[in-house]
Amino acid sequence: MSHRSFRGFLAVSEQQGFLRRVRKSVDKTWEPAAMAKWAFQALPNDERFGLLFDDVEGSDFPLVIGALGASTHSYALGLGVPTEEMTDKWINALLNPIAPEVVETAPCQKVIKTGDEVKLSDLPIPHWTPGKDAAPYITTITVTKNADTGHQNMGVYRTMVKDDTHVLANISPGRHGFMQASTYLDKGKPAPIAWVVGTDPAIHYATVANMPFDVEEVNVAGGLKGAPIELVKCQTSDLLVPANAEIIIEGEVLPGEFGDEGPFGEFAGYMGPVAPKPLARIKAITHRKDAIYYGYTSQMPPSESTVLQSLSNAPLLMKILTHDFAESSVKDVFIDLTFGGLLAHCIVAMTPRHDGHAKRIGRLIADMSPVKRVTIVDEDIDIRDPLHIEWAMNSHYNPVRDTIIIDDVYFPMGMDPSVRVDPSNIEFGSKVVIDATQTIDAGVISLPAQDIMDRALESWEEAGLPKFDIPKRAKLRIKSAS
Ligand SMILES: Cc1cc2nc3c(=O)[nH]c(=O)nc-3n(C[C@H](O)[C@H](O)[C@H](O)COP(=O)(O)O)c2cc1C
Repeated sequence: MSHRSFRGFLAVSEQQGFLRRVRKSVDKTWEPAAMAKWAFQALPNDERFGLLFDDVEGSDFPLVIGALGASTHSYALGLGVPTEEMTDKWINALLNPIAPEVVETAPCQKVIKTGDEVKLSDLPIPHWTPGKDAAPYITTITVTKNADTGHQNMGVYRTMVKDDTHVLANISPGRHGFMQASTYLDKGKPAPIAWVVGTDPAIHYATVANMPFDVEEVNVAGGLKGAPIELVKCQTSDLLVPANAEIIIEGEVLPGEFGDEGPFGEFAGYMGPVAPKPLARIKAITHRKDAIYYGYTSQMPPSESTVLQSLSNAPLLMKILTHDFAESSVKDVFIDLTFGGLLAHCIVAMTPRHDGHAKRIGRLIADMSPVKRVTIVDEDIDIRDPLHIEWAMNSHYNPVRDTIIIDDVYFPMGMDPSVRVDPSNIEFGSKVVIDATQTIDAGVISLPAQDIMDRALESWEEAGLPKFDIPKRAKLRIKSAS
């Protein structure tokens, strides 16, 4: 299918209204990011779209923002399935990963720039929080390698542009990119690193999920794509990168060299601190002939980052619970689209089989993921519908009986604004598990049964009242009432 490549995906997205083209010339120091902010701050999920900037002043490359994660719909388009099938698609990919294939020649290496030709300023890298950020930064897939095992990791780590050939990579301790780079740096050797700009949506989605260490994201991406990902060797290192990418930036992290990174707008909605981060030298930029530059927008939620992280991490939790823990009682997992994963709210639909079962599932999720709140509801609640969740919370949940507080939680990177005092004094945070399943018999549902509601719908139509789509919430409630 054509939209499995990045540019094919962009073409189909544009056709379907999930990507809008901006033809006017834009200034990368403020305009594209601030316009993308409007898309996420003003438009609801169902109406959001990404932006394709044809003409960025001072650059020959068009710039795309927000196309992969504008909304649930654009994400589903990238996966090539309807929204209801996204979880199954993900679980199938996690259970049946497909190994990549290495090729000799690649579209991403049609143009090769090394030495004096390497200039990051040729690329339309935006300033993401204009007027407040210290510098422009690259937000895309970062490839690293484990010197000891040969495994490669792909994750998204903000990368600050220092000058045309130097960057600071926000690879923090605990993140796999950091652990892999350390396998070289600890031996005093430079660590190979590469940034992949614009590739198969499957690769972008797989690299955002919090996969276990040394699980190679590219295999899961193959599972999501339903075909091996083609990889090609970098020009200046032995890292393997997606052959059909738009642009590859190749570099090496320098042992013992750091620089001050930030301040930058952060995903939780506040400006972050300045902190020392590893320095990397850029050795080559390779790209397609008519390459397109891509950057994810993050910062104030909701953002593309929160949409991508929610939709990539929830199916991973679902797979772990239902397959690795054999908890067939768990029916669905959703992470609210506004915070992404770290510090977010995870909602689980399940049918508890014994006392305390819902709390056990909640604890498991709180312990194995970076979410801050876990709410468990019965499987007849639509966990993607805030109105339905609120009803379950208000009518099923007795706080004193149904709450677990988990204390002394270390949130990596001091990123929780509710506990961060200052960058050098990080306090521990906490998590909450809420069991909002119906634990006592509350009686009969106060809605008429299906037959009466069906007849009422006919009367509604006869009366010429406006048509509506029946929300899943209403369907589930009427079923429970019948
Ligand atoms: C737009 C965007 C920006 C991100 N920036 C960072 C970052 O700067 N540092 C970081 O540690 N994680 C960042 N993340 C989250 C990680 O990419 C994500 O958790 C990923 O799974 C990490 O990969 P790893 O588990 O292989 O380390 C970002 C995610 C997105 C979508």
